[in-house]
Amino acid sequence: MILAIESSCDDSSIAVMDIDSKKLLFHKKISQELEHSIYGGVVPELASRLHAEALPKILEETKKFFPELKAIAVTNAPGLSVTLQEGVMMAKALSIALNLPIIAVNHLIGHIYSLFIGKEEIKPMMVLLVSGGHTKLLNFNGINNVCEIATTLDDSFGESFDKVAKMLNLGYPGGPIIENLAKKGKAIIDLPLPLKNSSNISFSYSGIKNAVRLVIEEGKYKKEDIAASFQKRAIEHLVFMSRRAIKKYRPKNFAIVGGASANLSLREEFEKLSRDFNFKLFYPDMEFTSDNAAMIARAAIEMYKNGMFTDYRNLKVFPRIEFKEC
Ligand code: KG4
Ligand code: ZN
Repeated sequence: MILAIESSCDDSSIAVMDIDSKKLLFHKKISQELEHSIYGGVVPELASRLHAEALPKILEETKKFFPELKAIAVTNAPGLSVTLQEGVMMAKALSIALNLPIIAVNHLIGHIYSLFIGKEEIKPMMVLLVSGGHTKLLNFNGINNVCEIATTLDDSFGESFDKVAKMLNLGYPGGPIIENLAKKGKAIIDLPLPLKNSSNISFSYSGIKNAVRLVIEEGKYKKEDIAASFQKRAIEHLVFMSRRAIKKYRPKNFAIVGGASANLSLREEFEKLSRDFNFKLFYPDMEFTSDNAAMIARAAIEMYKNGMFTDYRNLKVFPRIEFKEC
């Protein structure tokens, strides 16, 4: 079995997974959404303090698995350095106490493996990663073989939902709040479609966000219509750029992962795309869309099989990390 720890942002989570069957034997997550909600975003120092309280409480529940463990997995990149550090410190202590190797997992690769909990990998696959920190198109061909087709020039998809919710005084995280509000509104406001005249494949959300700011200041429209108009354009931009990448690489498998992959309108638009271009579309189960340690454990199993271990003395956190270009 592998025990995995996740603390890259505002979720403290630990999972235990069976190496052969990839079955999840234990999984618990304590989210800090409520604590950060009043600030309209994650406060790193508060987040790390809450991880320091939550992680040991969860760990205590996993003690019965300790004799069966073969490795300790932990997210060490990318994320907030002070919160990554909490999980990494726990992993180092467990590694010393139980005499086990460490597997240092890239959180973004973890999101890809949220698709394969209890299952075998599917590859090759084009992956759209939409989370609070990232918006990327990746080509996935196994744990050691991930390259980047496109990334965002400024804000991420999820972050833009968080910022729009903050501007409308609706709380955090903005994704589910805006999605629900949009259901009651009409997309009647003509917001700009980002980068529509550029020939590159890349993302940008600062333009729509600023356009929404001006609309709010104007005070002419209902919050519901602002949410619906914003969500429509934000998703259209993902579809517009993904369509370009799909035309170029012609993938047979395509997945949407990350916290924002929970958005049902987004899923609907990509269902249409999958019919136009004849690819199979995958998403994680709803419970594994947002940050969790189960996906970290699942990625760690592939790393375990490939001998990708780290000594606790060499384990460091990397708040930012780059993929090679495709
Ligand atoms: O993957 P995740 O849990 O954390 C990061 O690694 O960033 O993603 C969280 C992000 C937040 O920005 C949140 O607002 C967004 O995902 N999100 C959504 C939805 N649910 C969560 N965005 C749009 N629609 C949703 N339904
Ligand atoms: Zn994430």
